[in-house]
Amino acid sequence: MTSRVPENKKVLLEIANNFGTPTYAYNSNRIHSQIETLRKHTAGISSRLLYAMKANSLRPILQQINKEGMGVDAVSPAELELALRIGFAPEHILFSSNNMTDDEMRRAASAGVTINIGELSRLRQYGKTYPGSEICVRLNPRIGAGHHAHVITAGEESKFGISVDQIDDIISVAHEFDLQIIGLHQHIGSGILETRIIWKAISVLLDAALNFPDLKFLNLGGGLGVPYRPDEKPLDMAEWESVIIKPLRKYRAKHPSRNLEFIFEPGRYIVAESGTLLVEVNTLKPSNDRIFAGVDSGMGHLLRPVIYGAHHTIYNLSNPDGVPRTYDVVGNICESADFFARDREVQEIREGDILAIMDVGAYGMSMASEYNLRPLPAEIMILENGDTEIISHRESAEEMIDRIYPELIRQKVQASTSPSRSNIQDRET
Ligand code: LLP
Repeated sequence: MTSRVPENKKVLLEIANNFGTPTYAYNSNRIHSQIETLRKHTAGISSRLLYAMKANSLRPILQQINKEGMGVDAVSPAELELALRIGFAPEHILFSSNNMTDDEMRRAASAGVTINIGELSRLRQYGKTYPGSEICVRLNPRIGAGHHAHVITAGEESKFGISVDQIDDIISVAHEFDLQIIGLHQHIGSGILETRIIWKAISVLLDAALNFPDLKFLNLGGGLGVPYRPDEKPLDMAEWESVIIKPLRKYRAKHPSRNLEFIFEPGRYIVAESGTLLVEVNTLKPSNDRIFAGVDSGMGHLLRPVIYGAHHTIYNLSNPDGVPRTYDVVGNICESADFFARDREVQEIREGDILAIMDVGAYGMSMASEYNLRPLPAEIMILENGDTEIISHRESAEEMIDRIYPELIRQKVQASTSPSRSNIQDRET
């Protein structure tokens, strides 16, 4: 049976009725409470929180996060540009682009943000271009973790960071160009619900830190998981404090002259549970021993089930008391992989019902595409006082093509139903 009920199911149904589907709705109160929880459980050490904006870069979410005093981790020139335009102070932005180009490096440097470099070749290039300046280095502690192999971002097979085995090389590049390594960074993976593995990697970084006398901060990455499956429990924050925060406090006490600041940069933990994708069931298809519930959205709008086998709870907002049955909830994209859930118990589904696909605030819309030329969902914020704000409208097919190919606007063919009618006539005669 569906294990959880959406926090604001009445508002969600109203949103679907008033604004149609598919629509992403985000609850700003939930974002606030996640930030508060994390703050509470990282208090007691000198710490700073950055938000990994790749999880969800919706304008009002970034504005809220800025207002609530977090900084951001930006990984592309456009993320950086957006963060600056939202009003994040450059000193609260870390730029961690992968395979950084010279142009990206120069943009970030001229914006005055801290640059995080994960390759020796780029470090050398940075040193040549900006000798005598400050820099942060991303290390690979050779320990990785995550909810799926695709999201493990450290360890032997990972492309990220400079291996801790290459610390001597880092130091020699730094000497060559008189660089001050003011930060060390690591991020071992995403969707981690087990604090001990995070600590294991942190302790590698703490040891590595002893080689770098100019350090001002240690960025311990994000990766904090949220429970998606009914059998998953939320991260135990009391354990988080005792396994991670307490030892960090001790480390600081042991090395008082270093006055290090600790940074965490979660994405998922802040926004995942705030988001719901609202879809309408338009096709019920019993076939062999299954029932397919086909909806007006698909893998282009939420890729996680397809690429990670991710579980997102599905709740029938239109029939909350319906007797549960087992469905394959499938999308409208021409790919066999296009499903939201397989063999999933949902309250009885009827054509026309509105389903809430839950916990999609992180890596939902931010990974969406217009594959099959399906326009993206609308996006709506549920504000602190319960009011709703439309952030982006759902485009019609015509609007979408006008945007992609403005040069075709004037050649637009008069909308007509004639082709199908002529087919019918052909058949009738
Ligand atoms: N910092 C860095 C350098 C990262 O690469 C990431 C995520 C984060 C922080 C934030 O990680 P989080 O706290 O959200 O776990 N698309 C995947 C997740 C990919 C995460 C990529 N990096 C998913 O939907 O599960």
